[in-house]
Amino acid sequence: MTHTIQPNNPETTPAPDSTDAPGTTPAGAPTGGSVAGAVNRAAAAVPAALKRRVPKYSDLAPLMQFKKPEFSRAAKLQRASTIWELRDMAKRRTPQAPFDYTDGAAEAEITLRRAREAFLDIEFRPGILRNVSSIDLSTEILGKPSRLPVGIAPTGFTRMMQSEGEYAGSQAAEAAGIPYTLSTMGTASIEDVAEAAPSGRNWFQLYLWTDRDRSLEMIERAAKAGNDTLMVTVDTAVAGARLRDVRNGMTIPPALTLKTVLDASYRPAWWFNFLTHEPLTFASLSRYTGTVADLINSMFDPTLTFEDLDWLRETWKGKLVVKGIQTVDDARKVVDHGADGVVLSNHGGRQLDRAPIPFHLLPGVKEAFTKDNSDAAIMLDTGIMSGADIIAALALGADFTLIGRAYLYGLMAGGRAGVDRAIQILEKDMTRTMALLGVSKLSELTPDHVRILGK
Ligand SMILES: Cc1cc2nc3c(=O)[nH]c(=O)nc-3n(C[C@H](O)[C@H](O)[C@H](O)COP(=O)(O)O)c2cc1C
Repeated sequence: MTHTIQPNNPETTPAPDSTDAPGTTPAGAPTGGSVAGAVNRAAAAVPAALKRRVPKYSDLAPLMQFKKPEFSRAAKLQRASTIWELRDMAKRRTPQAPFDYTDGAAEAEITLRRAREAFLDIEFRPGILRNVSSIDLSTEILGKPSRLPVGIAPTGFTRMMQSEGEYAGSQAAEAAGIPYTLSTMGTASIEDVAEAAPSGRNWFQLYLWTDRDRSLEMIERAAKAGNDTLMVTVDTAVAGARLRDVRNGMTIPPALTLKTVLDASYRPAWWFNFLTHEPLTFASLSRYTGTVADLINSMFDPTLTFEDLDWLRETWKGKLVVKGIQTVDDARKVVDHGADGVVLSNHGGRQLDRAPIPFHLLPGVKEAFTKDNSDAAIMLDTGIMSGADIIAALALGADFTLIGRAYLYGLMAGGRAGVDRAIQILEKDMTRTMALLGVSKLSELTPDHVRILGK
């Protein structure tokens, strides 16, 4: 009998019940046996591991790890694995006005957006097959060691964001072995911070005034309290236009209006903390009531010049750092005027909008200092939201970095424990990034490890 092999046409393929008659498989291949036989053979070809079976208790037991769900603050902080997640927690816990004061920037917030994007628009270039079993993140900055290449930037009104404010920041920095900078607009005094974190490396940030007596008093207090570094901020001739604060009618301290009382009903813990702790006092001012813009304007002195910097250099005997450097020329100039270091910064995008981005400015400043044989320290802030950002900055020539919002999000998310968590997250990021880059010490980082995309 002749046998025609049919193409795989369901209409012509014999039904599986056409017992033992020779035919085709469902796929149209000749079998030389029955369809049922072919199906049985196919089933037999399924690997044992893919055959269904009833689970045994002994298989399930190790998988069953039911734990009581943990809703404590500590557990939530532990679950946050990025600074952005801390920001989400901070936003839920903090009234809108102080949250926006921290999170916001000047005008259209272009500077801040660009600064953060600058860290994203890079490519890391790793080396392979290096022994990275142990990673050392320690460094030296301004003549003293720091366990990590990052310190806490000066931030004003910190106890308004969360009542532990400067105490949480300085104690977390002390525990982490990194520098902490108290702002002239801080809400704890120089002496209180020194007492709270006695073995910490405390720096003081100064807004310089042409009123020398006022400046001198601050400088003397900083020296007496053991601060080894004075950081003078120079990007604040006048206040930036922080439009979120204007929209929120932000005042210091936050006023009880219909809006804030309503807000309080969603964030009772913040208001409870705020109202049951000592009212805000300032590092440098007596108690103040007024709008943020008014207070800031009273702080800033638009008449300052390089002569005032010279006076400061003569007066302050410790390390002097100038913060708010935005061009290569100015970086060189302040070093010529005696600065021991510069902070490339645009104040977290809170002053001039569309300002230069510190991360982009960095290679030029590094090149200029190398050419000048200058050993002045190059520090950088603005836009750092991960440890990888810090590693990228160090690779391109920064000696050290500072964080503002990254630690403030932690503070607002959970007080001291939140700042600890922010530092831990950054440390973990840095350790992992270094290992994946194939470097085990910061001194091994070079510009070859980073390519700025589009260049
Ligand atoms: C809420 C807030 C308050 C700040 N207050 C001060 C200040 O009092 N003095 C100062 O020199 N810089 C101040 N800064 C700027 C920071 O020192 C730092 O330059 C900036 O936060 C870095 O950007 P980042 O927040 O993206 O890390 C403040 C920044 C923030 C976010």
